Amino acid sequence: MSIDNAGILYFSSTGNSLYIAKKVRESLGGKISYIPEYKNDGSEFDYIVIVTPVFSFGMPVPVLDIMTRLNGDTPMIVIQNYGGMTGGADRLFYEYALRRGLNVVGIYTLKMPENFTLFMSPPTFYKNMILKSADKRIGAVIDAIIDKRYRIPGKKRTHEKIYLKNKNNWHKIGERFSANKKCVKCGKCVELCPAGNISLADGKISFGKKCIACLGCFHRCPRQAIIYKNKDNKKRYVNPNIDASEIGKDL
Ligand SMILES: Cc1cc2nc3c(=O)[nH]c(=O)nc-3n(C[C@H](O)[C@H](O)[C@H](O)COP(=O)(O)O)c2cc1C
Repeated sequence: MSIDNAGILYFSSTGNSLYIAKKVRESLGGKISYIPEYKNDGSEFDYIVIVTPVFSFGMPVPVLDIMTRLNGDTPMIVIQNYGGMTGGADRLFYEYALRRGLNVVGIYTLKMPENFTLFMSPPTFYKNMILKSADKRIGAVIDAIIDKRYRIPGKKRTHEKIYLKNKNNWHKIGERFSANKKCVKCGKCVELCPAGNISLADGKISFGKKCIACLGCFHRCPRQAIIYKNKDNKKRYVNPNIDASEIGKDL
């Protein structure tokens, strides 16, 4: 497998995956593209590296969607990052990829700070500890790719039922978001929402029924004005080594 022309395709709402994508590019070169905006089938690359968070023991909707668009010839490496427990998300990804005829040669998982903070926020010291050791874990995955030590997750239990059930309920999260009085109607949330679920009309921010639960709006609102269930008591998170304005861009 040539490593001359890598297509690094990422999805990220709080920067962890983008941080990993940038580290991959530092070592392997290549072009970084944001999955929701990427419309090709990957055939312009010698190989594809997908960098994605784990969502509910599975994958975010834009990542699931792109699996139906990519071609089955270009070799693909997947790096999943997660906040607490993968729940077999690597195996689930592999099985979905096989069903779609994709050429996955390796799947790796690595821990990053948790961003699902709507119910519980991990303590700051723990988040900092995970961040401090992240480069080591990312480096180990990149070394494995360079050395062609490809990892395919063995047959193990996945949580597909939980994943599909949660995915069907993600729209409810958006329905429980609102913008409080700190909102200055800058429209940043409208612009960054990968599902086109947020609108600004008549001086009011509204959330529709298409939320995919990425929490990008909640974490990246410049005024921290988006709140969940009318309560403003949860911590926001953006990877401190990433400029929030880069998330969602091709680099
Ligand atoms: C809707 C949602 C579901 C998540 N589900 C899981 C999960 O099942 N297991 C886990 O360990 N982390 C889970 N996470 C945490 C993210 O995978 C983790 O924080 C990731 O690093 C975020 O990447 P990003 O900063 O690139 O968006 C979830 C996050 C969200 C928003």
